[in-house]
Amino acid sequence: MTLAGKSVVVTGAATGIGRGITECLLKAGAGVTAVGRREEALRDLADRYGPAVAWLAQDVGAPGAAERIVATATDRFGRIDAVVNNAGLARFGRLDETDPALFDAMFAVNVRAPAELTRRALPQLRAHRGSVVNISSVGGVVSMPGRAFYGATKAAVNSLTRSLARELAPDVRVNAVLPGPVDTPMWSETGLDEADTEQLRTDLLASTPMGRFGEDTEIGRWVCLLLDTETSGWVTGALIPVDGGRTA
Ligand SMILES: NC(=O)c1ccc[n+]([C@@H]2O[C@H](COP(=O)([O-])OP(=O)(O)OC[C@H]3O[C@@H](n4cnc5c(N)ncnc54)[C@H](OP(=O)(O)O)[C@@H]3O)[C@@H](O)[C@H]2O)c1
Repeated sequence: MTLAGKSVVVTGAATGIGRGITECLLKAGAGVTAVGRREEALRDLADRYGPAVAWLAQDVGAPGAAERIVATATDRFGRIDAVVNNAGLARFGRLDETDPALFDAMFAVNVRAPAELTRRALPQLRAHRGSVVNISSVGGVVSMPGRAFYGATKAAVNSLTRSLARELAPDVRVNAVLPGPVDTPMWSETGLDEADTEQLRTDLLASTPMGRFGEDTEIGRWVCLLLDTETSGWVTGALIPVDGGRTA
């Protein structure tokens, strides 16, 4: 597989699953425009991988974010071949204990921002017969008491993926990867206390046939495969669970 000469935008690129995706892309020869809010993590990525990485410290949900991201990628690499919408906000809690504002915040980052970035990158994606990969979650297809809002945003991502796949074909392919539980910094930022987090992780492990959490690199390789036209040129509208069998 080679992605040499391709220019790929990755949101949430510096940590967790985004880092796994970015490292796979760089190994395959792509140039990556890495986006996230924390400058230090992005700088660290760029220092490590050199000129193949352009970066922008940007909240993807902020007004004008998509235009700035597209401009950064085009200035550095002259083109955009693919967008990986990975940045995500996961706040867990039961319906009667959750501030509705949290739903709006999750929707803005998990659904609206990927749609807007795809829209702004569309002329470039069309010109290069490009591709979009959305990082969804098995939470978008299985029921999740205590995490209904998060699950609802990921179900929306799945719907967006399938509808846009039809709308943008045959010029632009749109797919989603649905990770099961992966050990990332996300687990310390869900809003659950330590005991509830441990309980949730134990329950998830018990319901994952492969008996372990996934690695960020195991998600990253599937993203690379979906961007590789030789392998996946006929794949669009696919929701691919990479989940240790959790949805089996
Ligand atoms: N870990 C899992 O078990 C799991 C399972 C299924 C799906 N997922 C999905 O995988 C994706 C990546 O999550 P992760 O587990 O790798 O967690 P993570 O390490 O916390 O990654 C989230 C990334 O998104 C960035 N980000 C968050 N909000 C942002 C915003 N408003 N603007 C720009 N960047 C933002 C974060 O960087 P900054 O904080 O610097 O902005 C961070 O790099 C998410 O979409 C998540 O829903 C994760």
